[in-house]
Amino acid sequence: MNNIDINYIKQTINKKYGLSFSEEKDDFLRNSIKKFFHGSGFNDVNKYVDYSILLNDDQKIIDKLTTNFTLFYREEHHFIYLINALKRVKEKIKIWSAGCSTGEEVYSIAISIHDLCRVNNIKYKILGSDINCRVVNLAKKNQYTYDDIKNIYKKYNKFIIKNQDNFSFSEEITKNIDFKIINLKYGWNFNHKVDVIFCRNVSIYFDVISREELWQRMSQTLLLGGELYIGHSERIHNPEQYGLKMFGINAYRKIT
Ligand SMILES: C[S@@+](CC[C@H](N)C(=O)[O-])C[C@H]1O[C@@H](n2cnc3c(N)ncnc32)[C@H](O)[C@@H]1O
Repeated sequence: MNNIDINYIKQTINKKYGLSFSEEKDDFLRNSIKKFFHGSGFNDVNKYVDYSILLNDDQKIIDKLTTNFTLFYREEHHFIYLINALKRVKEKIKIWSAGCSTGEEVYSIAISIHDLCRVNNIKYKILGSDINCRVVNLAKKNQYTYDDIKNIYKKYNKFIIKNQDNFSFSEEITKNIDFKIINLKYGWNFNHKVDVIFCRNVSIYFDVISREELWQRMSQTLLLGGELYIGHSERIHNPEQYGLKMFGINAYRKIT
């Protein structure tokens, strides 16, 4: 095997996904690429990187390099903001969970608003998206362990079906949800704007420029008055440049 050019690999990953890695991750990256390279049929490791990262056969690498940790009702304050946002809506609300991992965020959104929407005759649609096919498939599969759901089971059990060895959300919840693969580094083709975006704990892996481009595009995807929620360790610097104004904990409203 020829030498791995770690800077080339980092640049390639950054170009495609916006992800940036400090030097501390060099060994981890080198070892991961080595592992995938063996058995790939390539004899030049940098060509393998071109092939696997640039030509889209890259799910193994994405899976290895991204962190998918998530929880039901993670950073709960955003679900309170969401309910307030819902009170301002008349007929329908569209919500996007961008970087939704295995779906906990998406189902938490749905069970928070379902009853309020029904009582007030409001239609809702939730899109969950992630770059990682494996986690999107798990989200679609809608199967969680008792450990996953134990904190919400008591309050929301009317929406949760107990199967033989797992738990899933009922059809009245899932019928309002779609999942898609979307790479947030690049644009997305929505034919409508949305009322609320959850994009939490995703931009932490992005370099500064990719992050700024992300906020710009997120803002363009929001309806006027729409809201963007980001994760506890994320910040939008000078949000006004994107037409956003901070109104709560890691929460921004589209003002222009
Ligand atoms: C730590 S999880 C956060 C899940 C959830 N939003 C939460 O806060 O609990 C981060 C997710 O971002 C996704 N991700 C990372 N880079 C991405 C990109 N360029 N485009 C889309 N999703 C990305 C990862 O695959 C991962 O599932």
